[in-house]
Amino acid sequence: MSALTQSTAWQALEAHHREIKPLHMRDLFEQDPERFEKFSERSTGLLLDYSKNRITEETMKLLSNLADECGVLKARDRMFAGEHINMTEDRAVFHVALRNRSERPMMVDGRDVMPDVRDVLNKMRRFTQDVRSGTWRGVTGRHIKTVVNIGIGGSDLGVIMALQSLRSYQRDDLSPRFISNVDSSHLVETLRNLDPETTLFIVASKTFTTQETMLNATSARSWLVKRLGSGAVSKHFVAVSTNEEKVADFGIDTDYMFPFWDWVGGRYSTWSAIGLAIALVIGMDKFEEMLEGAHAMDEHFRTSPIEHNMPVIMALLGVWYSNFFGWSTHAVLPYDQYLTRFPQYLQQVDMESNGKRVDLEGRPVDYSTGPIVFGHAGTNAQHSFFQLLHQGSWKCSMDFIGVANNHHPLREHQTILLSNFLAQTKALMRGKTEDEVRAELKAEGLSDEKIDLVAPHKTFPGNKPTNSIILPLVTPFTIGQLLALYEHKIFVQGILWNINSFDQWGVELGKELASEIKPKLMGEVPIMDEDSSTAGLIHYMKRLKKE
Ligand code: F6P
Repeated sequence: MSALTQSTAWQALEAHHREIKPLHMRDLFEQDPERFEKFSERSTGLLLDYSKNRITEETMKLLSNLADECGVLKARDRMFAGEHINMTEDRAVFHVALRNRSERPMMVDGRDVMPDVRDVLNKMRRFTQDVRSGTWRGVTGRHIKTVVNIGIGGSDLGVIMALQSLRSYQRDDLSPRFISNVDSSHLVETLRNLDPETTLFIVASKTFTTQETMLNATSARSWLVKRLGSGAVSKHFVAVSTNEEKVADFGIDTDYMFPFWDWVGGRYSTWSAIGLAIALVIGMDKFEEMLEGAHAMDEHFRTSPIEHNMPVIMALLGVWYSNFFGWSTHAVLPYDQYLTRFPQYLQQVDMESNGKRVDLEGRPVDYSTGPIVFGHAGTNAQHSFFQLLHQGSWKCSMDFIGVANNHHPLREHQTILLSNFLAQTKALMRGKTEDEVRAELKAEGLSDEKIDLVAPHKTFPGNKPTNSIILPLVTPFTIGQLLALYEHKIFVQGILWNINSFDQWGVELGKELASEIKPKLMGEVPIMDEDSSTAGLIHYMKRLKKE
């Protein structure tokens, strides 16, 4: 057994779980009208209501003990101190420096990184101003109207999500597009109807070696060169990377390379120059407001005690359900159309960070780690998978993200949206008993026979836990807060599970095998040393290709 599951705090939680399991939240709310006040936290306009969870004050005390015993606050302080907590890659995990808006130095390896961070922000500001004002023009002298971000994973998901979320801050004459998938359809469809004279490509890649991004960038460059000639590349291609040599090899003027550093993990890089497309499309001031929002959450995380620390509370609740209830799925359900891409973005941050099977000492863990994260925007999601959330046999924890105000106050749209938000969390908490269903059906005049038939199907067990996170409005600041909230939640869970949340070796094997398989698919080498399924599929695909 691992030290974690043997720890006093863990054992106490196991015993406590046996007491909590039979309790229904409906009763807990009836017994205690103060639940909302007791189990909610606020920070710079953001509210976390976690009262609709299967917890009592005792649960939160025992969970806090777990955080204490696992050294969460010490680990947090080590991150903010720039220590090399990413031990397999021997790197600091220091994205908090990218959004440090205070005068505090941020030290890595004995050096304050803030002057470099500010230099890059200034360089981004100058460039975005030039492009947005029309000072920077394409090779034929026309203004830039489209920014195409070429990147994948952390060099794509955060940028798309932020720009989708902040669409109402976008100017009509400057819009973003994205190429990430190596599938040529993505490139062709993205470039369809684009005017090369008014298009600016950002090649966004931390390593500048990622196969998909490099091939997409090469194809995009050919598309441009074919139409405007090779002299156009310097006016239509810029790069964001840590790898100056590769950027130069690709033919991009390194004066227009926006650097970042190895202490910025790919999935935390939206705050770095990877956010250049965001800054171009909504303006540098708005991008910096996003940093401000993240910084506000960083400060909350850095200074709040465990029992009032939102990321810590969310992390502990996640562990409560994953490890004690045995539910390893977590749904994220934003009730704002602008946040549609948020669950997808979060999948990488959470699943790439905590999808780990060994602990820091390299021993296989005997408890579940990162959950499966999924979700979609409400109310649409209500009409797809909510049936399973309410009545399915699969259990999961859920975050509902509600936004009080809408950028487009139109008739009663927002009131209906929020009513649905509130109704769902209430329904999931209370459920509907079979007695209540039977009484309703009787009042409708149904026969006893019909009631017997239908009642079990119309019964809702309830007792399904939800967090409600409320933002005043989707703005650059609140998006920054929200993202940082989840980043820190995921960080804390990694500490609790004693895993390294900062590497991603799990993506490597497939990459290696893909490069071995490629020459076989191309017929350059014989199909030997393959299992019969892979060999059979290669042969089958090659045959189809010829036909
Ligand atoms: O998916 C693996 C990964 O390494 C991510 O962590 C990263 O965000 C992505 O690939 C892209 O890498 P790069 O920015 O180096 O192209």
